[in-house]
Amino acid sequence: MSTNSITITQPDDWHLHLRDGEALKAVAPFTAKQFARAIIMPNLNPPVTTVIRAVEYLDEILAAVDGSDFEPLMTLYLTDNTSPQEIIAARKSCFIKALKLYPAGATTNSDAGVSDLKKCTKTLEEMQKSALPLLIHGEATGSQVDIFDREKVFIDKTLIPLTQQFPDLKIVFEHITTKDAADFVQQSGNNIAATITPQHLLFNRNALFQGGLNPHHYCLPVLKRNSHQQALLNIIRSGSHKFFLGTDSAPHARHKKESACGCAGIFSAHAAIEIYTSIFEQQNALDKLEAFASFNGPDFYGLPRNSKTVTLIKKSWQIPDEYDLGPDKIVPFLAGQTINWSLASTNDT
Ligand code: NCD
Ligand code: ZN
Repeated sequence: MSTNSITITQPDDWHLHLRDGEALKAVAPFTAKQFARAIIMPNLNPPVTTVIRAVEYLDEILAAVDGSDFEPLMTLYLTDNTSPQEIIAARKSCFIKALKLYPAGATTNSDAGVSDLKKCTKTLEEMQKSALPLLIHGEATGSQVDIFDREKVFIDKTLIPLTQQFPDLKIVFEHITTKDAADFVQQSGNNIAATITPQHLLFNRNALFQGGLNPHHYCLPVLKRNSHQQALLNIIRSGSHKFFLGTDSAPHARHKKESACGCAGIFSAHAAIEIYTSIFEQQNALDKLEAFASFNGPDFYGLPRNSKTVTLIKKSWQIPDEYDLGPDKIVPFLAGQTINWSLASTNDT
């Protein structure tokens, strides 16, 4: 039997890049139209490392979604120098929901990231005590590590020791891309969860090279081989409560992607919930969509589930070839392709 309409509790996006300035104004309304809340990544240039700076950034986001109920859930960027006092201030702020760990040099604007977790011991102790989650970009750095092995090496060299040292620390292993990461999270305690992006469910590394080099499929962590993609699809079909929606929508202007040294990041906010819905339908797992998109995230963070609902209907539409990004243009995920689900409405219950 085919389903023509589905109504679920309004979803949240647990991993989102909104940028600032003109780009923020251009992309934030896409997310606010679909999601009630989103975890906002702090990798601006310079990064958001203090509560004071996070308040300013929060105000800028709220101005960009003026008139909507969208609630940004802010994060701080962990550095070698983040103090335990900053963690206490973050917890007291109530609007800061997590800290983000970028291993230095791992991805876009990560130069100020952590060079050695040993430098963060006191700060991590305070986070463990405060139950403030650590959101981890789980890739080992260093030119000797093969780019396709970075997630696995990170698990072995960094994540396992970290979880042994801080057994109660809440951790979100972000944008997981491998069977290794999926297995690690499944086998861990309930203080460890993971987000999964649409691109890592829809594609494997062939998509980077299909018909020529495609920079619009380039993100970090990079797409992996088919067996890893299948492992992630198995996870969403399983309905495990440890995995939830995080788009990692990461806008970069067209000219910065289509360049001799193109940026990593895929912009998917324009159609995020529709794309996830199509994926769950293809997997015969539409009954698992609501928990993944709307329950598992807030349950992990200890936040209330949303009270509104959204309705998606089976109605095809074509994703535009590009959108405006302030003075620039941006090529959205699945540009020019037809998608068979549409967001019809958001309703109070
Ligand atoms: C992100 C970005 O552009 O900020 N890029 C990406 O490929 N995902 C950074 C990140 O989350 O790694
Ligand atoms: Zn990201």
